[in-house]
Amino acid sequence: MDFFTYSQEQLFAEDVPVADIAKEYGTPAYIYSRATIERHWHAFDNAVAAHDHLICYAVKANSNLGVLSVLAKLGSGFDIVSQGELSRVIEAGGDPTKVVFSGVGKTSAEIRFALEHNIMCFNVESDAELDRINHVAGELGVKAPISIRINPDVDAKTHPYISTGLKANKFGIARDDALRVYKRAAAMPNLDVKGMDCHIGSQLTDITPFVDALERLLVLIDELAEHGITISHLDVGGGLGVPYNDETPPHPKEYAAAMAKKMQGREHLKLILEPGRAIAANAGILVTAVEFLKQGEEKNFAIVDAAMNDLLRPALYSAWQAIIPVRPRTGEVGKLYDIVGPVCETGDFLGKDRELAIQAGDYLAVRSAGAYGFVMASNYNSRCRPVEIMVDGKEVHVVREREKLKDLWKGEHKVT
Ligand code: LLP
Repeated sequence: MDFFTYSQEQLFAEDVPVADIAKEYGTPAYIYSRATIERHWHAFDNAVAAHDHLICYAVKANSNLGVLSVLAKLGSGFDIVSQGELSRVIEAGGDPTKVVFSGVGKTSAEIRFALEHNIMCFNVESDAELDRINHVAGELGVKAPISIRINPDVDAKTHPYISTGLKANKFGIARDDALRVYKRAAAMPNLDVKGMDCHIGSQLTDITPFVDALERLLVLIDELAEHGITISHLDVGGGLGVPYNDETPPHPKEYAAAMAKKMQGREHLKLILEPGRAIAANAGILVTAVEFLKQGEEKNFAIVDAAMNDLLRPALYSAWQAIIPVRPRTGEVGKLYDIVGPVCETGDFLGKDRELAIQAGDYLAVRSAGAYGFVMASNYNSRCRPVEIMVDGKEVHVVREREKLKDLWKGEHKVT
């Protein structure tokens, strides 16, 4: 559930009419709802309350400082994949000792920075990475807390680009190799073996692969114990899907409760969850204005002022996101439109064959745009990235100003 609802024949973000925000700050504009972010985070946190746990929000889903600061105030942990993301967490007031560091390509500089900030754990993806972390920790004279990412080889049944838990993927260590890698890690002088982790994919709409993966990891944890290696936390990654269209993913409560249930009898094993999309996606919309309506030979086009550079998911994954009018023209007959942007690519669309009653000048809202929206935006076609706004009840906060033209060539130099 989110706090973008119709009232008095127009769309509201919490207590503020979306059209008022669009008029004041211009379009395209990302608008986030603080109450929705908090509600989603609490849904996870409450569902696992009975078990020792930490919710580590996946920063990659939406790394705006406004969003991170709201989560930091709740006491959230964070899952990061770069020095940049860790720096954002710190800047937003997040606690680095509640940070797990994921990703297959951590550089020595990033490892050093993370160790200097005392992060909770490195989620390690390869033998070579173990060597590198051991080396950097040795230079700093500290012990690095590590977890090994296990590839549980379960089929997440999601889009191939965002499926990560299969043997064919670049992520993690194969189950059959896990004991050897853990033994190696345990023998390294500057590593402290703390955890086991996995992440099987994103936008999963079925609970079974999550439970299967967890069970496989628990078997491994018991096997490690027989070899004298004690694991103190289990990080099951993120990946819970959201309803973009007619998907029916389990509710975060249901998902987290299923995870906690499997952990029963393992009081000394802390449970870590890394949800990104399930917290942020439906806490955001992208508001855009219709510039022109154009009748093509076969199709009607609504040309809007947002494009693939602002919201890449439809172009990249053929992702479907709802597109709704900010002020519905009640009683008018709709037509089918392709909602397209001004970028010079046929792939530049936000939605296809959408039935809408619209006129040039109307505002549209692309729903579920709070995750993997602005973070994947680019300046393609020399377009300034949108303003980002956080609504909190009646309050409207600009959490990122719209980019200005001169920002576009900052750091560039003419050749004389
Ligand atoms: N943990 C790890 C290690 C991850 O790689 C990811 C996402 C997450 C947590 C968070 O997953 P979530 O709960 O958000 O599903 N750009 C794509 C999604 C890529 C996800 C990559 N990893 C999209 O727009 O659908």
